[in-house]
Order: sequence, then structure tokens, then C-alpha cells
Amino acid sequence: MSGIIYNKNIFDSEKATIVSIRDLTEKEKLFEIELDSAKSLNHEPGQFIELFVPGYGEAPFSVSSSPSKDGPFELCIRGVGRVTNAIHRAEEGDKVGVRGPFGNGFDVDFLKGKDLLFIGGGLGLVPLRSLINYVRDNCGDYGDTTVLYGCKEPTERLFIEELEEWKQMSFCQAKETVDSCPAEVEWEGNVGVITTLIPEVDIDPETTYAAVCGPPVMYKFVMEELNEKGLPADHRFLSLERRMKCGIGECGHCQIGEYYVCRDGPVFNYAEIKDEEEAI
Ligand SMILES: Cc1cc2nc3c(=O)[nH]c(=O)nc-3n(C[C@H](O)[C@H](O)[C@H](O)COP(=O)(O)OP(=O)(O)OC[C@H]3O[C@@H](n4cnc5c(N)ncnc54)[C@H](O)[C@@H]3O)c2cc1C
Ligand code: FES
Repeated sequence: MSGIIYNKNIFDSEKATIVSIRDLTEKEKLFEIELDSAKSLNHEPGQFIELFVPGYGEAPFSVSSSPSKDGPFELCIRGVGRVTNAIHRAEEGDKVGVRGPFGNGFDVDFLKGKDLLFIGGGLGLVPLRSLINYVRDNCGDYGDTTVLYGCKEPTERLFIEELEEWKQMSFCQAKETVDSCPAEVEWEGNVGVITTLIPEVDIDPETTYAAVCGPPVMYKFVMEELNEKGLPADHRFLSLERRMKCGIGECGHCQIGEYYVCRDGPVFNYAEIKDEEEAI
């Protein structure tokens, strides 16, 4: 686990300021947040922070910006309940608290020289975006890159401009799909679940490593398709999400078998967890 030690009390958060807020969809907003100390968050792609919203409490969120981005870091937050709806009502300049970054992210040094296959479902694109944009900014260090992204409906697509940018990059191919499209919405792309994109991509299982993040239901079917591709289990990195409280391996809320997702994950090598019943 890397990160900054901010305070003597591990549950104290560092003061930070919301510097910009942008609507991505009806349900998701992108927040740029700056630590008041002006320090860099110093995160790895795939790590998360605990965000404290005064008067409402704390919740974990993946850092969505790349460590290669200067200045404030970004969180993409879906409004679903008490803390997330409170942050959706916040305004630029409002104060929040930040603990972290926490957990194991994607190992950007290990992945150097490898071909990369990103598979993101829905909000799962949020942590993957941190790594995709890191690879974009350091593309000479990585091989061929493929991004597969699926969401429920076209109106739920996240980071639309960046998806178009990734599609244009010479070392990257990006494909999208939606589960379904209402008649009144214009969409000329693929319709079908994300697993329908996997047979279409040509990967070398010897040189390719996959990074997968999405809703729990997605993993089993994505793993089956990757088996069809002959991708070894240890060439797959999965970012898992579990209910969390402390975020630092103290409370046991996020336990899967012998692992604490907050401390040992959220990014796991599939070979390590494939026999854990509750993992997938
Ligand atoms: C490591 C990690 C990274 C995450 N990254 C992101 C992110 O980048 N963007 C984002 O929008 N969300 C992310 N989440 C989920 C986010 O933490 C929850 O949406 C948030 O905790 C809900 O808090 P709330 O107070 O708004 O909701 P509550 O009022 O507590 O609950 C509202 C509803 O959401 C459900 N719920 C609450 N927490 C979770 C949870 N952890 N998982 C599933 N359902 C939950 C409740 O059962 C209830 O139905 C992440 C979670 C984890 C563990
Ligand atoms: S959230 Fe407390 S142990 Fe993981």
C-alpha cells in the first residue's frame, strides 16, 4: 500500500476543497478535489480514498484520474444515498475530508511492455480510467491496448469525450456496447452485454494482461469469455467492490475468505482469488 501518512490518528481525514464539478450523466458527477496542503494525492491507478462529507459521513470512492495528471484528483460519484447525494448537492469551493489513498492498485511497473485489455462495465470504468489515462500518458512503455466498455443505456455512458479520444489513439482500440437502447434514444453502436465484445477482439494470450471492473454479475461471464480466449488466470487483474467502513483492514466489513478487500485489494490477481467462493 502506498500513500501519504497525514495524521497521527488513522481515522482523521485531510482537509480538501472541491475545485470543480461536472455532470457526466443524470446520475454521475465528476468532482475535482484538491488537498488543502497542496500535496499530490500520490495514488496508484485502482486505489481508493475515503471521502468525508461534513454532516453526512464517509464513503469509499475510486480515484478516477491518472497519477500522471497534475493538480487536483478526480472522483466520479453516482448519487445513491446519504453521502453520495450530499456530495451531489455540494458546490465548488465546499470543504470535504480525504483519507487515503488505500488498497492495492494496478501495478503499472509490472504491466510495462505488456499488451493490455481493459473490460469495464458501468461504474467499473471509473477506476480503469485512471490506468487507461496513465497508459495514454506513458504509451511508449506499454504494448497494444484494447478498451471494452459496456453500460445499460446510451444515456449512461461515462467519459464520452475520452472514449472517442481512446478510439483515435494509434496504439489503442476501444469498443462500446449498451445492454439496450430505448426507441427514443439515438444510438448506432453495439447492443448487447459486454461479454459480446470479447470474441471480437484479437489478443495474444501470452502477452496480454486484462484489467476488469464492473458490477458483481459481470465477472463470472467475463471470466468464461477470457477462458475461451486462452488468457491465463494470472494474466487477469480484477478490481472488486465490497461494503467498506474503515478502509484500512481494521473492521472486517469487506472480508472475502482470508482477504480484506480494502487492504489486500480492491485489485486482485484472479489466480489468487478464483477459488474463494464469495469473490466472484
Ligand atoms: C473500493 C470502493 C470504490 C468505490 N468507488 C466508487 C466510485 O468511484 N464511484 C461511486 O459512485 N461509487 C463508488 N463506490 C460505491 C460507494 O462507496 C457507495 O455508493 C457509497 O458508499 C454509498 O454511500 P451513501 O451514503 O450515498 O449510500 P447509503 O445511504 O449508505 O446507501 C444507499 C444505497 O446504496 C447501497 N450501498 C451503500 N454502499 C454500497 C456499496 N459499497 N456497494 C453497493 N451498494 C451500496 C445501500 O444498500 C443502499 O441501497 C465504491 C465502493 C468501494 C468499496
Ligand atoms: S473496510 Fe474495514 S476491514 Fe476493510
